[in-house]
Amino acid sequence: MKLSKKSRFAIGAALVVGFFGSRALWNRYRPLPEPTAGNVDRGEVAFSDSDLGSKEFFSIPRAIFDALPEIYPDLFVEGWQGIGFIPRESDPLGPPIGLVRVSVYGLESYAANCAICHTGRVAGKTIIGAPNANLNLHQFGISMFTSIKRPELTVEAVAAVAEQKGKPLGFVERQSIRAWIAIARNKIAKKDTKWFTTELGPGRSDAINIWKRVLHVPENGHLAWADIPTVYNQKLKTKTLLDGSLTGDSSVRAALTELEKGRPARDILVHRETFDDIMAYINGRLAPTPFPFPIDKAKADRGQGIFNDSCSSCHGTYGPGAHTYPNRRVTSEQMGVDPERALAMIPEMVDPVRQYGYAELIKIDAQPAYIAPPLDGIWATAPYLHNGSIPSLWHLLQEESNRPTVFYRGFSEFDPKHVGNACEETAPHECGMDAAQKKHDPRLIFRFDTSKSGNWNRGHRAGTTLPAEEKDALLEYLKTL
Ligand code: HEC
Ligand code: HEC
Repeated sequence: MKLSKKSRFAIGAALVVGFFGSRALWNRYRPLPEPTAGNVDRGEVAFSDSDLGSKEFFSIPRAIFDALPEIYPDLFVEGWQGIGFIPRESDPLGPPIGLVRVSVYGLESYAANCAICHTGRVAGKTIIGAPNANLNLHQFGISMFTSIKRPELTVEAVAAVAEQKGKPLGFVERQSIRAWIAIARNKIAKKDTKWFTTELGPGRSDAINIWKRVLHVPENGHLAWADIPTVYNQKLKTKTLLDGSLTGDSSVRAALTELEKGRPARDILVHRETFDDIMAYINGRLAPTPFPFPIDKAKADRGQGIFNDSCSSCHGTYGPGAHTYPNRRVTSEQMGVDPERALAMIPEMVDPVRQYGYAELIKIDAQPAYIAPPLDGIWATAPYLHNGSIPSLWHLLQEESNRPTVFYRGFSEFDPKHVGNACEETAPHECGMDAAQKKHDPRLIFRFDTSKSGNWNRGHRAGTTLPAEEKDALLEYLKTL
């Protein structure tokens, strides 16, 4: 059977649109499911090995994923790993961590889950629940948008790469890929190019502003730059997000991150069982990875006393014995930290919460404040503070005037002594690139300038005036959390 180019395209497009259209329509009107108890095993799979039911909104054909770095070496410097994707040790040529194989109408595609952001690689270890500090979401957006817009992405170019990799495309696959490119081009032509204009650097997200775009809430001019947080110790959390503004149903609180994929707000609620399973996993199984270097136990024990005196009132207490966590929010003014992220959350966010059926489930309390986060697994989450502006725990305990004003993010070496990113001063209060960073293309390394609004490294003065010996003991204790 020989079909004209035009009719082949029409078949492909009809298949794609028909499939997405009917499912989306049903999800829009079906009744919302009741909360469930969740299942730990299923939750583990959902967190790291599923598409979370979102493949219709965020998936990319495998052949295109493989071809993009070959077609556009300038947009994918060092390939997908340059964007910060971590290859799976068990399947290095397959989808990286955080992406899974899904079939979108017979077309092998990759879709994303929580692990794309919430699984990191630190000190040579893959750490589930720690942030992926190398993932450059900003560059990911730009590279995807630009690749689709530019004309070099064609089914022929994709097919040539597939052939080269020994996975030649079949007839149907070619038509679907042709349709995918055309539909994606069409969608992107309508998108606001503002989506990816701010330079975040790796490990950070403009999450709240992206939520606002999806929910049609006007922005209020504040930057929402957020360092990806850990997701440990959620059982004791009654307030979610870096500003602690969300309360209510814990699965829905966590699930809202899905808005960052451009996923419609209601679709998330329709799939709430998946997020109930994930919360069962986070609360029942997911635990921080122990610090992989020696710890001086006697020193750490002394540090625990200092922590309980100076830090617990906000951050809670950690083993042995029961954990406590006070869910304390402190104003950015009192802390002295950068206020931008807190100010980006606004009462107007409450309207969409009503409109999309969240009103019974969560509440939003916008305040110019941050929550003192749980410190479980804190050793693996550098750089520190909500905006990732301080390279190590040691630097956090220095007085503000002694913290580095400029340092480099992305592919940093882990420094077990200072606990965090290696940061060696090359000028007063400036750190240069470390040895690991120098091995990469300089375009992948982000110069973090703490003088810019949204990037301030000021504030959080607790512990900064302790005697050096006490700071040392406290740092030793922080390694044990
Ligand atoms: C695109 C990256 C990204 C993905 C994917 C992602 N998250 Fe997040 N997550 C973030 C960021 C960034 C924040 C902090 C947002 C803020 O407060 O500004 C966050 C916050 C959270 C929090 C709140 C932490 C706290 O202590 O308040 C939880 C829980 C969470 N995410 C769970 C999940 C789960 C479960 C998934 C998968 C369904 C997921 N995230 C997917 C980036 C991501
Ligand atoms: C008055 C309450 C308060 C006290 C006391 C306090 N903190 Fe904090 N801490 C906070 C808040 C609020 C934040 C979040 C600020 C931000 O991210 O901008 C925070 C953030 C942190 C972070 C960064 C977490 C991350 O994920 O980046 C660390 C580490 C930390 N505190 C350690 C300590 C230590 C150690 C002490 C004791 C010396 C201490 N804190 C005392 C309120 C407090």
